[in-house]
Amino acid sequence: MYGPRIIVKVPASTANLGPGFDTLGMALSLFAWIEMAQAPETTITLYGDQMNGVPTDKSNLIYKVAQMVFNEAGVSVPELSISMYSDIPLTRGLGSSASAIVGALVAANALIGAPLSDHKLFQMATALEGHPDNVGASLFGGIVVSAWDGEQADYVRIDPHPSLQALVAVPAFQLSTEKARHALPKEISMGDAVYNVSRSSLLVAALATGQLELISKAMKDRLHQPYRAPLIPGMETILAHASERGALGAALSGAGPTLISFVDAQSGRKQELEQFLVDTLADEGIEAETIWLKPFNSGPQLVQVEEGDDLPLIDRIQSEVRV
Ligand code: HSE
Repeated sequence: MYGPRIIVKVPASTANLGPGFDTLGMALSLFAWIEMAQAPETTITLYGDQMNGVPTDKSNLIYKVAQMVFNEAGVSVPELSISMYSDIPLTRGLGSSASAIVGALVAANALIGAPLSDHKLFQMATALEGHPDNVGASLFGGIVVSAWDGEQADYVRIDPHPSLQALVAVPAFQLSTEKARHALPKEISMGDAVYNVSRSSLLVAALATGQLELISKAMKDRLHQPYRAPLIPGMETILAHASERGALGAALSGAGPTLISFVDAQSGRKQELEQFLVDTLADEGIEAETIWLKPFNSGPQLVQVEEGDDLPLIDRIQSEVRV
């Protein structure tokens, strides 16, 4: 008797939204699925090209994070059957590692009767990721404003405006968060700090009150984007001119290299914007995939599969995955 299987569907996320470095995050309608059950011996099945090179033994991140939940709850579940499929591009700035961490925490917690609160899972996820922005968005959905002092993470969640739509341009190359953080200076001037505090505050207030016309000005940043620009050719042009091409605002998504633009869903200039992003990156010799997304309003969605129902994860979610 090994009990039920849990399937968790977790949203991707975009972090920073320009000025809110390590602070702002938004969940997006692009997903990863994790299935977890107790088992006689550990097996890890990874579906899709995204997962090439990801370990399938007990060094797997999902397995290790699940064991942290069991330790925290004081229970022993040493052997697990885990399956995972993800539509979230790896190492591109769309929170793939945060979604894996959040999915593993939520699935493992559900497997043992959910003894840990969402607040506790948020603390664990933030400590694992090193900042709360992506994990907060994946765990709570919507727009999440958060702060972490190294021990305690606090957050406020905002409902995204229903007209907001996002266009991401995902370059064909990967950029590790470590490399993108290494490009940042150790110190910044008071002028740049004030510049970011004012834009980030204005952005949060504009998003909370639905004043989308302010987003373009509010998404400006001097803390990280200027230093990361040399790593993403074409980025400066896109951030400087996207609003002239129909965007409400544009930013580097997380640590990049993905670029995100926001538009009004009713806009008649979506194709123009998409072409501008693709052409600008192509001029720099960069191939990029564009994906239209919506902000996603909720965190992980859980399904419990009863014992005896052995349909493989990939067949169960076939109608929902991107092709
Ligand atoms: N806030 C983080 C950064 C997000 O920009 O480095 C990437 O994980």
